[in-house]
Amino acid sequence: MDSSLQQALPQWRRHLHRHPELSLQEQETAAFVCRTLASLGVPFTADVGGHGVVATLTRGASNRSVGLRADMDALPITETTGLPHASETAGVMHACGHDGHTASLLGAAALLAQDADWSGTVHFVFQPAEEGYGGARNMLADGLFDRFPMERIFGYHNWPGLEAGTVAVHDGAVMAAGSRVQITVDGHAGHAAMPHLSRDPVLASAHLLVALQSVVSRNVDPLQCAVVSICTVNAGAASNQIPSRCELSGTFRTHRPAVRDLVETGIRRIAVGIATSFDVAIDVDIQHGVCATVNTRAEAELAAACAAELGVPVRRNVPPSMAGEDFGWYLEQKPGAFIWIGNGPAGPGGELHSPGYDFNDAILPVAAEWLARTARRALAS
Ligand code: NI
Repeated sequence: MDSSLQQALPQWRRHLHRHPELSLQEQETAAFVCRTLASLGVPFTADVGGHGVVATLTRGASNRSVGLRADMDALPITETTGLPHASETAGVMHACGHDGHTASLLGAAALLAQDADWSGTVHFVFQPAEEGYGGARNMLADGLFDRFPMERIFGYHNWPGLEAGTVAVHDGAVMAAGSRVQITVDGHAGHAAMPHLSRDPVLASAHLLVALQSVVSRNVDPLQCAVVSICTVNAGAASNQIPSRCELSGTFRTHRPAVRDLVETGIRRIAVGIATSFDVAIDVDIQHGVCATVNTRAEAELAAACAAELGVPVRRNVPPSMAGEDFGWYLEQKPGAFIWIGNGPAGPGGELHSPGYDFNDAILPVAAEWLARTARRALAS
């Protein structure tokens, strides 16, 4: 990598970090990506599935093709790092490192634009709205794989807690499927001192919340992965009234569709039982979000081989995460791999989605080189 690109990478990353934009609002981020691509002489198509941008390089006579993807959106978090390049937008922050992902994909485009020694087509996918707002699905619905045909697709996420620059490649599942659960418990309001005249949705909800913890501990095979978390409970306004309604919400995460179905069935079954036991009405609404991100075998091997060629440590034994990632939507349709690149020690408050997190600029060259090398090798093999 030449020194001008080595200097540009952290400048691009810090510019994006200072100007974060929430999911579905990445207008200026996309404009910055387009300006930078233009300065690199890389042609692109804007407004793909919202604020998505797809850049394309074609060389030689090969009709082979590959996609590389980065996400661009930030989070509704108030940054506390105090760094010179901290967010200049109140309440919005690049707390997941998508600024670094975007900068390194620009770097990969720069590397492949400078390099005459490859043949085929590379599509650089700059995706909006990864943080739960359907960005991958929106790009697919806008014809991503039809308008920009690619045989396979690769991407990465920075990973705090993994040594800086170390690459983790998973066989199979990398990230989990996520489903949202909304539960409404309806009873009958009444005086706190005359509970026999009410039907108490708060007491029923308390039993429901505890009983739901048995889905993972007593229904799911202990050697499979699942988590059920109820995260909000809302009811009542007075300390001397039994309210009429209690609302709960949460999420469950799994790696396999069969386990996801088992968890859903378990939640619904327990809700029916609690409703009968406590003479209340319980409505369960489950919305399936991202599917699991699952690497295909050949592409995981290719991704690991390219990392090894860069001379960085490659780990194949890191357990997958129960966090979600919408790269799974791409892997549902195309072979590919999603790897982790270590961001270095997390430190207190330095985890993903924390106000003290910052992307580690030192890993930008590794990320850009890995993306470019993986594309070249995918086209040649
Ligand atoms: Ni992320």
